[in-house]
Amino acid sequence: MNSEIIDLQAENLKQSYDELSKHKFATDLLLGLSAQPKHIPSKYFYDDAGSRLFQQIMNLPEYYLTNCEMQVLETHAADIVSKLGSGPVNIVELGAGDGSKTKVILKSFFEKNIPITYYPLDISNDALKQLISAFGKEFEQLKIQGIQSDYEEGVRWISKHNSQKNLILFLGSNIGNMLLKDAKTFLRKLWKSLNHEDEVLIGFDLKKDISLLLPAYNDSQGITRDFNLNLLTHVNDRLGANFNTDNFRHYGTYDAERGAMVSYLISLKSQDVHIANLNKTFSFLPFEPIQVEFSYKFLIEEIEEISQQTGFRIEAEWYDEKGWYVDVLLSVQKNKK
Ligand code: AVJ
Repeated sequence: MNSEIIDLQAENLKQSYDELSKHKFATDLLLGLSAQPKHIPSKYFYDDAGSRLFQQIMNLPEYYLTNCEMQVLETHAADIVSKLGSGPVNIVELGAGDGSKTKVILKSFFEKNIPITYYPLDISNDALKQLISAFGKEFEQLKIQGIQSDYEEGVRWISKHNSQKNLILFLGSNIGNMLLKDAKTFLRKLWKSLNHEDEVLIGFDLKKDISLLLPAYNDSQGITRDFNLNLLTHVNDRLGANFNTDNFRHYGTYDAERGAMVSYLISLKSQDVHIANLNKTFSFLPFEPIQVEFSYKFLIEEIEEISQQTGFRIEAEWYDEKGWYVDVLLSVQKNKK
């Protein structure tokens, strides 16, 4: 007898990551461009071209975040690794990008002869391929397995592959892209996916003088502008839209009440944009904004509060020389009383 039951979940799994993520992309655009004010989630910056542009941003003199975190990791990598004990560790990196900062940490594990497996997770296939080939050459003994996904899928993956001691890397102040409440929800989900005493290393960009923040998101070479406008090109490429990037401008500003840099793409005139995948046209008024990114800046008190509220114990805080940036090591606490 033939089975009469169709397992929809199994059927769905046969869809490629590409199809599933495209569907999600289209849905997010429909919701975001139908909303008032219009917005597009910032994770869609990172197609292959966007990931390359972000690597250029990391090398900009104005974009201080990368240098600050590099300094933190170079100064304290041995200390970070020593907090993890001497047994084998699975290292999962959320939004690994080019992994330039991660190398410093991996080297420290090798120096102490701690066996590790490295799972870089990124939304960009190109970025992952490059990282895997570069790390393969530099660290011949390294076990490495790339995961192409967004954070949400990533955390689901972690929850099913968490039998060893885990170290989650969440560097670059990537957490700053989430609304504060979403950051808390995300950390709680991450906590749930892990075991007691697993560790999470998170980079946070700290609140500082606005005259330092503004140029970091409005660089003189216009790379940040290109990075932002590429979001529209990504929508064109993937969803068959007809955004003309000449008709939008990048605007990055500091929202003091939120404590976040906020980026917009502003429509320079009255215009219609058609998205073929949605079979829908969206109208833009002159000077109407699309909100495309938040980059929250934190006080250490806020970081401590978020961490404790979501079930973590703070193991250590490491600052750069200027005190502009902090990497925090959090330990998952699941002691039942
Ligand atoms: C990679 C999310 C940390 O928000 O600072 C850089 C992305 N946007 N310049 C940030 C970004 C504009 C960056 N993160």
